[in-house]
Amino acid sequence: MKSTNEIFLLKLGGSLLTDKNQPFSIRENVVKSAIQQIIEAKEKLILIHGGGSFGHPLAKEYSISKGLNPSIPNQILGLVKTHQSMNKFNSYLINLFLEKNYPALSIQASSIFIKESHNISTQSIDMIETALDLNILPILYGDIILDKQGSFSIISGDQIIFELCENLKKYNVSKVIFTMETDGLYINDKFNKESLATECYSDELESLELANLGQKIDVTGGIKGKLNFIKQICKYNIPVQLINGLKEGYIYKSLKNQKINCTNVLINK
Ligand code: IPE
Repeated sequence: MKSTNEIFLLKLGGSLLTDKNQPFSIRENVVKSAIQQIIEAKEKLILIHGGGSFGHPLAKEYSISKGLNPSIPNQILGLVKTHQSMNKFNSYLINLFLEKNYPALSIQASSIFIKESHNISTQSIDMIETALDLNILPILYGDIILDKQGSFSIISGDQIIFELCENLKKYNVSKVIFTMETDGLYINDKFNKESLATECYSDELESLELANLGQKIDVTGGIKGKLNFIKQICKYNIPVQLINGLKEGYIYKSLKNQKINCTNVLINK
Protein backbone atom coordinates (compact mmCIF):
# COMPACT_ATOMS: atom_id res chain seq x y z
CA MET A 1 0.00 0.00 0.00
CA LYS A 2 1.22 3.51 -0.74
CA SER A 3 2.05 5.69 2.22
CA THR A 4 -0.02 8.86 2.58
CA ASN A 5 2.77 11.19 1.54
CA GLU A 6 3.39 9.41 -1.75
CA ILE A 7 2.13 11.00 -4.92
CA PHE A 8 2.22 10.50 -8.65
CA LEU A 9 3.16 13.18 -11.13
CA LEU A 10 1.12 12.77 -14.28
CA LYS A 11 1.92 14.67 -17.45
CA LEU A 12 -0.67 14.82 -20.19
CA GLY A 13 1.29 15.66 -23.31
CA GLY A 14 0.15 18.55 -25.46
CA SER A 15 0.28 16.44 -28.63
CA LEU A 16 -2.09 14.01 -26.98
CA LEU A 17 -4.63 16.59 -25.83
CA THR A 18 -4.55 18.79 -28.92
CA ASP A 19 -3.77 18.58 -32.58
CA LYS A 20 -0.35 20.20 -32.38
CA ASN A 21 -0.34 21.18 -36.04
CA GLN A 22 -3.68 22.97 -35.92
CA PRO A 23 -3.75 26.02 -33.66
CA PHE A 24 -6.16 25.93 -30.71
CA SER A 25 -7.67 22.53 -31.41
CA ILE A 26 -8.66 20.34 -28.46
CA ARG A 27 -9.15 16.58 -28.80
CA GLU A 28 -12.19 16.69 -26.57
CA ASN A 29 -12.75 12.94 -26.29
CA VAL A 30 -9.15 12.31 -25.33
CA VAL A 31 -9.21 15.06 -22.70
CA LYS A 32 -12.52 13.90 -21.23
CA SER A 33 -11.41 10.29 -21.06
CA ALA A 34 -8.14 11.25 -19.34
CA ILE A 35 -10.02 13.31 -16.75
CA GLN A 36 -12.51 10.52 -16.10
CA GLN A 37 -9.69 8.03 -15.51
CA ILE A 38 -7.91 10.40 -13.12
CA ILE A 39 -11.12 10.88 -11.13
CA GLU A 40 -11.85 7.15 -11.03
CA ALA A 41 -8.33 6.25 -9.89
CA LYS A 42 -8.79 8.28 -6.67
CA GLU A 43 -5.03 8.61 -6.20
CA LYS A 44 -3.10 11.59 -4.86
CA LEU A 45 -1.29 13.29 -7.70
CA ILE A 46 -0.18 16.49 -9.31
CA LEU A 47 -1.35 16.89 -12.89
CA ILE A 48 0.79 18.73 -15.39
CA HIS A 49 -0.29 19.32 -18.97
CA GLY A 50 1.52 20.46 -22.04
CA GLY A 51 0.81 23.21 -24.49
CA GLY A 52 0.21 21.46 -27.78
CA SER A 53 -1.48 23.74 -30.25
CA PHE A 54 -2.28 26.30 -27.52
CA GLY A 55 1.36 26.88 -26.67
CA HIS A 56 3.90 25.94 -29.29
CA PRO A 57 2.68 27.84 -32.37
CA LEU A 58 2.40 31.18 -30.50
CA ALA A 59 5.67 30.64 -28.64
CA LYS A 60 7.35 29.88 -31.95
CA GLU A 61 5.81 32.85 -33.76
CA TYR A 62 7.21 35.26 -31.15
CA SER A 63 10.37 33.29 -30.43
CA ILE A 64 9.54 33.25 -26.71
CA SER A 65 11.84 30.41 -25.68
CA LYS A 66 14.89 32.33 -26.86
CA GLY A 67 14.17 35.30 -24.60
CA LEU A 68 13.80 39.03 -25.13
CA ASN A 69 14.65 40.15 -28.63
CA PRO A 70 13.71 43.77 -29.43
CA SER A 71 13.94 43.08 -33.16
CA ILE A 72 10.88 40.82 -33.01
CA PRO A 73 7.77 42.96 -33.52
CA ASN A 74 5.25 42.76 -30.65
CA GLN A 75 7.24 40.09 -28.84
CA ILE A 76 6.06 41.18 -25.37
CA LEU A 77 2.47 41.06 -26.55
CA GLY A 78 3.20 37.60 -27.94
CA LEU A 79 4.61 36.59 -24.55
CA VAL A 80 1.43 37.43 -22.66
CA LYS A 81 -0.71 36.01 -25.46
CA THR A 82 1.15 32.72 -25.14
CA HIS A 83 0.41 32.66 -21.41
CA GLN A 84 -3.23 33.60 -21.96
CA SER A 85 -3.68 30.90 -24.57
CA MET A 86 -2.31 28.29 -22.16
CA ASN A 87 -4.47 29.72 -19.43
CA LYS A 88 -7.55 29.33 -21.62
CA PHE A 89 -6.70 25.71 -22.38
CA ASN A 90 -6.05 25.06 -18.70
CA SER A 91 -9.42 26.62 -17.75
CA TYR A 92 -11.11 24.22 -20.15
CA LEU A 93 -9.55 21.29 -18.28
CA ILE A 94 -10.25 22.72 -14.83
CA ASN A 95 -13.90 23.25 -15.75
CA LEU A 96 -14.25 19.61 -16.80
CA PHE A 97 -13.01 18.54 -13.35
CA LEU A 98 -15.35 20.98 -11.62
CA GLU A 99 -18.32 19.77 -13.68
CA LYS A 100 -17.64 16.38 -12.08
CA ASN A 101 -17.43 18.06 -8.63
CA TYR A 102 -13.75 17.20 -8.41
CA PRO A 103 -11.62 19.83 -6.62
CA ALA A 104 -8.93 20.81 -9.13
CA LEU A 105 -6.92 23.99 -8.70
CA SER A 106 -5.03 25.78 -11.43
CA ILE A 107 -1.49 26.77 -10.39
CA GLN A 108 0.37 28.91 -12.88
CA ALA A 109 4.04 28.16 -13.24
CA SER A 110 4.51 31.76 -14.44
CA SER A 111 3.24 33.00 -11.06
CA ILE A 112 5.11 30.66 -8.74
CA PHE A 113 8.42 30.30 -10.55
CA ILE A 114 10.93 32.93 -11.61
CA LYS A 115 14.24 32.47 -13.36
CA GLU A 116 17.48 34.06 -12.33
CA SER A 117 19.98 33.36 -15.04
CA HIS A 118 19.81 29.55 -15.36
CA ASN A 119 18.33 28.86 -11.94
CA ILE A 120 14.64 28.64 -11.21
CA SER A 121 13.48 29.86 -7.83
CA THR A 122 10.94 27.45 -6.40
CA GLN A 123 10.08 28.88 -2.94
CA SER A 124 6.36 28.91 -3.70
CA ILE A 125 6.22 25.16 -4.17
CA ASP A 126 4.84 25.04 -0.60
CA MET A 127 1.44 26.07 -1.85
CA ILE A 128 1.29 22.97 -4.05
CA GLU A 129 1.96 20.80 -1.01
CA THR A 130 -0.66 22.66 1.00
CA ALA A 131 -3.18 22.06 -1.78
CA LEU A 132 -2.33 18.35 -1.65
CA ASP A 133 -2.84 18.39 2.14
CA LEU A 134 -6.33 19.68 1.47
CA ASN A 135 -7.03 16.88 -1.03
CA ILE A 136 -7.04 19.35 -3.88
CA LEU A 137 -5.70 18.24 -7.26
CA PRO A 138 -3.08 20.81 -8.28
CA ILE A 139 -2.89 21.32 -12.04
CA LEU A 140 0.12 23.01 -13.59
CA TYR A 141 0.96 23.50 -17.24
CA GLY A 142 3.76 24.46 -19.58
CA ASP A 143 3.88 28.24 -19.40
CA ILE A 144 5.99 31.34 -19.88
CA ILE A 145 8.56 32.09 -17.19
CA LEU A 146 10.01 35.51 -16.45
CA ASP A 147 13.69 36.02 -15.83
CA LYS A 148 14.88 38.53 -13.19
CA GLN A 149 17.54 39.68 -15.62
CA GLY A 150 14.87 41.29 -17.74
CA SER A 151 13.99 38.45 -20.04
CA PHE A 152 11.78 35.39 -20.26
CA SER A 153 11.46 31.94 -21.77
CA ILE A 154 9.18 28.92 -21.75
CA ILE A 155 8.98 26.44 -18.90
CA SER A 156 7.80 23.11 -20.29
CA GLY A 157 5.60 20.68 -18.41
CA ASP A 158 8.59 18.33 -18.33
CA GLN A 159 10.77 20.93 -16.65
CA ILE A 160 7.99 21.66 -14.12
CA ILE A 161 7.99 17.94 -13.31
CA PHE A 162 11.72 17.97 -12.78
CA GLU A 163 11.46 21.01 -10.47
CA LEU A 164 8.75 19.22 -8.47
CA CYS A 165 10.83 16.05 -8.18
CA GLU A 166 13.75 18.10 -6.97
CA ASN A 167 11.98 20.45 -4.60
CA LEU A 168 8.88 18.87 -3.06
CA LYS A 169 9.59 18.45 0.65
CA LYS A 170 6.55 16.89 2.30
CA TYR A 171 5.61 14.55 -0.50
CA ASN A 172 7.58 11.78 -2.17
CA VAL A 173 7.03 11.14 -5.84
CA SER A 174 6.50 7.40 -6.29
CA LYS A 175 6.31 7.52 -10.10
CA VAL A 176 6.27 10.02 -12.94
CA ILE A 177 3.91 9.13 -15.77
CA PHE A 178 4.23 10.73 -19.18
CA THR A 179 1.25 10.15 -21.44
CA MET A 180 1.84 10.36 -25.13
CA GLU A 181 0.32 9.18 -28.41
CA THR A 182 2.38 6.03 -28.67
CA ASP A 183 2.97 3.09 -26.34
CA GLY A 184 6.31 4.56 -25.30
CA LEU A 185 9.74 4.81 -26.85
CA TYR A 186 10.27 3.03 -30.14
CA ILE A 187 13.76 2.00 -31.07
CA ASN A 188 15.31 0.52 -34.18
CA ASP A 189 16.22 -3.02 -33.21
CA LYS A 190 19.15 -4.96 -34.67
CA PHE A 191 17.05 -6.00 -37.67
CA ASN A 192 16.28 -2.31 -38.27
CA LYS A 193 12.66 -2.88 -37.29
CA GLU A 194 10.83 -0.50 -34.98
CA SER A 195 10.09 -2.06 -31.63
CA LEU A 196 8.81 -0.79 -28.31
CA ALA A 197 11.41 -0.48 -25.58
CA THR A 198 9.36 -1.92 -22.73
CA GLU A 199 12.16 -1.48 -20.23
CA CYS A 200 15.28 0.59 -20.30
CA TYR A 201 17.71 1.86 -17.71
CA SER A 202 18.07 5.58 -17.21
CA ASP A 203 21.73 5.54 -18.21
CA GLU A 204 20.79 3.97 -21.55
CA LEU A 205 18.44 6.78 -22.51
CA GLU A 206 20.98 8.88 -24.34
CA SER A 207 22.32 6.06 -26.44
CA LEU A 208 18.90 4.76 -27.57
CA GLU A 209 18.49 4.58 -31.35
CA LEU A 210 15.04 6.15 -31.41
CA ALA A 211 12.80 5.39 -34.35
CA ASN A 212 11.54 8.43 -36.25
CA LEU A 213 8.68 10.00 -34.32
CA GLY A 214 7.66 12.56 -36.91
CA GLN A 215 8.08 16.32 -36.82
CA LYS A 216 5.70 18.58 -34.95
CA ILE A 217 6.15 22.16 -33.90
CA ASP A 218 7.92 21.97 -30.56
CA VAL A 219 9.70 24.86 -28.88
CA THR A 220 10.70 22.89 -25.79
CA GLY A 221 13.09 20.30 -27.19
CA GLY A 222 10.79 17.48 -28.35
CA ILE A 223 11.59 13.90 -27.43
CA LYS A 224 15.32 14.57 -26.91
CA GLY A 225 14.51 17.26 -24.35
CA LYS A 226 12.07 14.89 -22.66
CA LEU A 227 14.67 12.13 -22.39
CA ASN A 228 17.10 14.55 -20.84
CA PHE A 229 14.58 15.49 -18.14
CA ILE A 230 13.72 11.83 -17.57
CA LYS A 231 17.36 11.08 -16.97
CA GLN A 232 17.54 13.87 -14.41
CA ILE A 233 14.34 12.71 -12.71
CA CYS A 234 15.78 9.21 -12.36
CA LYS A 235 18.69 10.67 -10.41
CA TYR A 236 16.18 11.17 -7.60
CA ASN A 237 15.40 7.43 -7.70
CA ILE A 238 11.97 8.05 -9.15
CA PRO A 239 10.77 5.55 -11.74
CA VAL A 240 9.31 6.94 -14.95
CA GLN A 241 6.69 5.41 -17.18
CA LEU A 242 5.84 6.50 -20.72
CA ILE A 243 2.35 5.39 -21.63
CA ASN A 244 -0.17 5.68 -24.45
CA GLY A 245 -2.91 8.12 -23.46
CA LEU A 246 -5.03 7.03 -26.41
CA LYS A 247 -5.39 3.45 -25.19
CA GLU A 248 -8.52 2.88 -23.16
CA GLY A 249 -7.95 2.78 -19.43
CA TYR A 250 -4.16 3.11 -19.60
CA ILE A 251 -4.02 6.25 -17.46
CA TYR A 252 -6.19 4.59 -14.81
CA LYS A 253 -4.11 1.40 -14.94
CA SER A 254 -0.87 3.28 -14.65
CA LEU A 255 -2.17 5.21 -11.63
CA LYS A 256 -3.15 1.87 -10.10
CA ASN A 257 0.25 0.36 -10.93
CA GLN A 258 -1.40 -2.28 -13.10
CA LYS A 259 0.51 -3.87 -15.93
CA ILE A 260 0.34 -2.16 -19.33
CA ASN A 261 2.28 -2.24 -22.55
CA CYS A 262 4.52 0.80 -22.22
CA THR A 263 8.08 1.96 -21.60
CA ASN A 264 9.33 1.69 -18.03
CA VAL A 265 12.47 3.63 -17.27
CA LEU A 266 14.30 1.83 -14.51
CA ILE A 267 16.74 3.29 -12.05
CA ASN A 268 20.37 2.25 -12.35
CA LYS A 269 21.52 0.74 -9.09
C1 IPE B 1 4.89 24.01 -23.67
O1 IPE B 1 4.78 23.02 -22.69
C2 IPE B 1 4.25 25.28 -23.20
C3 IPE B 1 4.32 26.39 -24.17
C4 IPE B 1 4.79 26.30 -25.38
C5 IPE B 1 3.78 27.65 -23.70
P1 IPE B 1 5.21 21.53 -23.04
O2 IPE B 1 6.51 21.53 -23.76
O3 IPE B 1 5.14 20.75 -21.77
O4 IPE B 1 4.06 21.07 -24.02
P2 IPE B 1 3.90 19.77 -24.92
O5 IPE B 1 3.48 18.65 -24.03
O6 IPE B 1 5.22 19.51 -25.60
O7 IPE B 1 2.83 20.16 -25.89
